[in-house]
Amino acid sequence: MNLRSEFFSFFLILFNLDLCLSSICSQYYPLQSQPQLCECEDASSSGTPSSILLKCIGLSTIPNLYSNIIYNTIQIDSCLNDLNFQYESFNNLTINILRIHHCNLLNINDQTFANIKQLEKFTLENSTIISLKVSNENFQELFSISSFQKLKSLTLKNIHYHQKNKHDKKLNLELLLQQLLFLHRLELSNIFIDSYRYYDIYSVGQHLTYLSLTNTHQLSLLPIEYLVSLERLIIRHLPNLFQTQPLIGSLKKLQNLKYIAFEHNQLESIENLQSNTIDDIDLSSNLIEKIDEYTFEYIPKLRHLTLTNNPLNSIDKNAFCGIKNLERLSIHITHKQISPLDNCILINYPRLKIVEDASTKLQCNCQLLNIFNLQRQENVDINRLFKMNQDCLYNDRFVRVYELEKYLNCSSFNQCTDFCQYRQRKTQTIPTILSHFQVKSKYTSLSTSLYSFFSYTLCLLLSCFLYL
Ligand SMILES: *[C@@H]1O[C@H](CO)[C@@H](O)[C@H](O)[C@H]1NC(C)=O
Ligand SMILES: *[C@@H]1O[C@H](CO)[C@@H](O)[C@H](O)[C@H]1NC(C)=O
Ligand SMILES: *[C@@H]1O[C@H](CO)[C@@H](O)[C@H](O)[C@H]1NC(C)=O
Repeated sequence: MNLRSEFFSFFLILFNLDLCLSSICSQYYPLQSQPQLCECEDASSSGTPSSILLKCIGLSTIPNLYSNIIYNTIQIDSCLNDLNFQYESFNNLTINILRIHHCNLLNINDQTFANIKQLEKFTLENSTIISLKVSNENFQELFSISSFQKLKSLTLKNIHYHQKNKHDKKLNLELLLQQLLFLHRLELSNIFIDSYRYYDIYSVGQHLTYLSLTNTHQLSLLPIEYLVSLERLIIRHLPNLFQTQPLIGSLKKLQNLKYIAFEHNQLESIENLQSNTIDDIDLSSNLIEKIDEYTFEYIPKLRHLTLTNNPLNSIDKNAFCGIKNLERLSIHITHKQISPLDNCILINYPRLKIVEDASTKLQCNCQLLNIFNLQRQENVDINRLFKMNQDCLYNDRFVRVYELEKYLNCSSFNQCTDFCQYRQRKTQTIPTILSHFQVKSKYTSLSTSLYSFFSYTLCLLLSCFLYL
């Protein structure tokens, strides 16, 4: 009897606990109150205080928010009307993640984001800030308030904001990193960042592991080696950065860097990039025509290489010598008939996953014929890109691989045997510190460095002047 009642009360407690957890949503955001247009979900996990996830779509006003609830996430999406913060705010709330997408924000002021507790992630995307009532009407001022002090992740994408003074319109990256000292992840896209350089940059961004800058219009970047924790670096649509400073050369100083993506930067060639840690490189949509032998020998950990959408003409059979773990090569180029690959790569890298347009043809030559013959013997591993019945290109016409014997005289030819044995070019003795990515540039490297030095000094002077 005693045991039974204990058992019973145990179930009662479990049941109550469950009721208690689910009741935050039903108590504060009941389904019936449809004008709210907010979806509420329990976001509690064991060991943490109960919290909720609130997702609002198509709002006309800011929803009712309560300072006694823990909001794991508040997401406000696609507002119907301007969100007016004149009388409403996030003040005093406990919010871990705050996301605002596709809304016009009106009357943002000093109180709007004040005293938010436990804010870790903040995202503002596809939104317009119509009026800003903070000091100097400067958007950047928002991030000085204490709510953002422990912020770990900031995303600002496609934001328009109107300000009084023209030069205020741009964010300063170094200042932002100074404001948000604990930032781990920063993603900025299609907003304006200025090129001023603050002097106190030695201790900023110490926790930053992820930095993504897309079309941020800046002409320079703080010396990348100051961001000591960086693991992933994404720079898109910013060709100037590669001209005004030795960005690529500095990467070797970053001891945690694993991934770089430099798309749309007009890079023409890659040579002697150095890093003992990088294993994934994306150079899509640049102007790279040729990959020479041993290009990646100073990136020994490279596993994934993406060269999609470059005007590639040739990839040397020894291009990947020095890398042991290359797994995937993406050279997808639409509207290009001939593969840039040397056919020897098909024999020398049987396991490499090569991503290429299915209609791209290999070059007809004795190497290919040799591969065909080896494949027939069935005891040799050949890359899956090669198929027995595929076409190849011979004197501007397509020929089936099995018909190649009719066209070629291969009685004596080089059978891919000198794989990584010797190199044709002499190695460079001392890798220079300057960028090894060559960029289409009007300046010579000397004038580039002079130019960057000069602009750096000028920016310092300017910022001092502005500061006064
Ligand atoms: C914020 O909370 C404090 C105390 O918890 C209270 O005194 C203050 O009035 C609140 N402010 C707003 C704007 O709700
Ligand atoms: C923002 O807009 C872009 C382009 O219009 C779109 O691709 C993206 O999905 C939008 N983001 C959100 C969160 O709505
Ligand atoms: C093939 O080439 C070798 C030498 O390169 C030559 O001796 C032979 O006559 C050629 N055969 C034909 C059919 O052209």
